[in-house]
Amino acid sequence: MSATPQSMRGTNPWTPRPFRIEGIIAELTSVWTFCLSPEEGDSPSFQPGQFNMLYVPGFGEAAISISSSTYDIPQLQHTFRAVGNVTGALSRLREGDQIGVRGPFGNSWPVMQLPGKNVIFVAGGIGLAPLRPVIEYTLQNRTEYEKLKLIYGAKSPDVLLYRREFSRWTDAGLEIEVTVDRGTPHWQGHIGVVTEIMRPFPGDPEQTQVLVCGPEVMMRFVAREAISLGVPPAQVFLSLERNMKCAMGMCGVCQFGPEFICKDGPVFPFNRIQQYLRLEDL
Ligand SMILES: Cc1cc2nc3c(=O)[nH]c(=O)nc-3n(C[C@H](O)[C@H](O)[C@H](O)COP(=O)(O)OP(=O)(O)OC[C@H]3O[C@@H](n4cnc5c(N)ncnc54)[C@H](O)[C@@H]3O)c2cc1C
Ligand code: FES
Repeated sequence: MSATPQSMRGTNPWTPRPFRIEGIIAELTSVWTFCLSPEEGDSPSFQPGQFNMLYVPGFGEAAISISSSTYDIPQLQHTFRAVGNVTGALSRLREGDQIGVRGPFGNSWPVMQLPGKNVIFVAGGIGLAPLRPVIEYTLQNRTEYEKLKLIYGAKSPDVLLYRREFSRWTDAGLEIEVTVDRGTPHWQGHIGVVTEIMRPFPGDPEQTQVLVCGPEVMMRFVAREAISLGVPPAQVFLSLERNMKCAMGMCGVCQFGPEFICKDGPVFPFNRIQQYLRLEDL
């Protein structure tokens, strides 16, 4: 399928810019990473944790996190699962096709608060994608941090995202622990939920920052476990997802309590959103 958007010119934040799909990495069943370069000009700089609105003409826009390293500009990567209208249309595109990109939007992981601390990344499923830029960022600046640890949970060993990166990340100073819901005959790792492998904690919990992305129910359990282990709630950060439209705090579609997830988030310290997460349970 070839996409040639007509209405994607200029730098107006409402108007998608045309980007070319330079490469497509088939990650998992129904999960791809697009490597994108702008047709004209430079790629926008971005902060780890930010997202873009990806536009497929005739289908619309979807919020997708930037999953590449901030050091890899000019190419931007986005990892998505085909779940609906826009992501389904994205999945049918090919290398060389164009899509529209608006952004980057949103805040970032708290990179300025991490130096001197232990940093634990907790990911569930393709929640590892929004964490990859901050993992890469901390590994590029490895000496600034104490322990760096990734705790990663997936349904089964065959759906571990970015497995090809694990040995490079380990060599660069990231401890990685993986758990799956269902093992296979060859799986020798842990089986169970991520909270089961959060103990023992690497170092002093008060000197630890926990960055979490995955299904919301998983993030609530991880936050609760981290806090019960002694991490202050203001040092537990969750990246939230809600439907998005404008992505600029104008339309109200993503409102979450008094916050707009597109503008005030998607990354929030647990203490700021805790009460609204509880309301979501009602
Ligand atoms: C800040 C942010 C970052 C994000 N980052 C990523 C990312 O990096 N990668 C990623 O894959 N996603 C990401 N998402 C999620 C993504 O934006 C949503 O999944 C988005 O809705 C996909 O758009 P879509 O048009 O493909 O799906 P939609 O058509 O909007 O469908 C969304 C959901 O509704 C369900 N659905 C659709 N149609 C129907 C129907 N007829 N009946 C019942 N259910 C239906 C789908 O199964 C799906 O679960 C992010 C979201 C946010 C807010
Ligand atoms: S998507 Fe419009 S206010 Fe957030």
